[in-house]
Amino acid sequence: MKVFDIAPVKFVGGQLLILDQTKLPGEEVYIEAITKEDIWDAIYHLRVRGAPAIGVAAGWGLYISVRGIEAETAAEFAQKVRETAGYINSARPTAVNLSWALKRMLKVMDEYLAGCEEAIALGDTLPEERKIHWVKEVLRMEAEKIQKEDEDACYAMGEYGLSLLKPGMGILTHCNAGTIATAKYGTCLAPIYLGQQQGYNFRVFADETRPLLQGARLTSWELHKSGVDVTLICDNMASSVMKKGWIDAVVVGCDRMAANGDGANKIGTSGVAILAKEYGIPFYMYVPTSTIDLDTPTGDDIKIEERKGEEIYRMWYEKPMAPEGVKTFNPAFDVTDNKYITAVITEKGIVYPPYDVNLRKIKEND
Ligand code: MRU
Repeated sequence: MKVFDIAPVKFVGGQLLILDQTKLPGEEVYIEAITKEDIWDAIYHLRVRGAPAIGVAAGWGLYISVRGIEAETAAEFAQKVRETAGYINSARPTAVNLSWALKRMLKVMDEYLAGCEEAIALGDTLPEERKIHWVKEVLRMEAEKIQKEDEDACYAMGEYGLSLLKPGMGILTHCNAGTIATAKYGTCLAPIYLGQQQGYNFRVFADETRPLLQGARLTSWELHKSGVDVTLICDNMASSVMKKGWIDAVVVGCDRMAANGDGANKIGTSGVAILAKEYGIPFYMYVPTSTIDLDTPTGDDIKIEERKGEEIYRMWYEKPMAPEGVKTFNPAFDVTDNKYITAVITEKGIVYPPYDVNLRKIKEND
């Protein structure tokens, strides 16, 4: 079985199922999310993680959280939907896909209700109960659309990305921007999978990605399972493998790209980009247009999530690996300055500098 078949988020038989990524690679377990608290918890604790997958989970999560809500009027219902969206949005701050997906959901609700008002003004009678029923339907359809669009976007990024790579290349990646970080295929791992199907025989090097080990637990798991040649290295070995000449390209995902092309991604990404520049290796950032945030001017304006220090010194160990009470600093993301990014791969094409001009062109073409 190819790992393509493993979806991080599934809506089946009216149930929202989330692959609990904290259990990987040991166990492949799906948990059911029923309430808004379940969704918040799944996103906060990284049971579902990776910017696009968070967006997909947020869309479905909003729908399942409000489908059972009853209200006297559609306006009252809509207010509850807005409050629920605000709550889900507070789970993690950096990946823009979370707020992007929730805004999309609220927009279709508002548009539908505005349409109802127009119809009523023209003489239609629409009982509040019917409006509420149809708002729920509109939300369900939008969640489905977000998921499908992400799948298509990832496939397209795979094709564009593959055009930049050659058979037999050594490729380094950081964190996990694969199948389980998206609806399907991944962003920066999509070309690896498409290349695999076409006999490209890439040699992939996966940074372990401390402290939460997305590279070790998730990337090496999904590539290995798919039969891709993958070598796991510690984060501090990236320079060594580059110096040996084993790396021809670096591919990474993105959690939020500012209007000027600065891109926030998993902590450690910017160091890899700086190394790549030093060694003359192209550094490609895979950014679906849903992850481009034109309202954020530069990387300095991106809010970086800080997580508990125990993820660094306790989480993976039997005993704490630091003295009790030691100070820690645990930012979950860093920003790669646009000058280190050779190209941005989107589902609409490959974007080259000047990013402040060209990202806007591609995004406004949405
Ligand atoms: O903290 P995470 O695991 O959600 O961080 C994920 C990343 O940084 C990914 O590289 C990014 O979301 C791109 S996913 C296609």
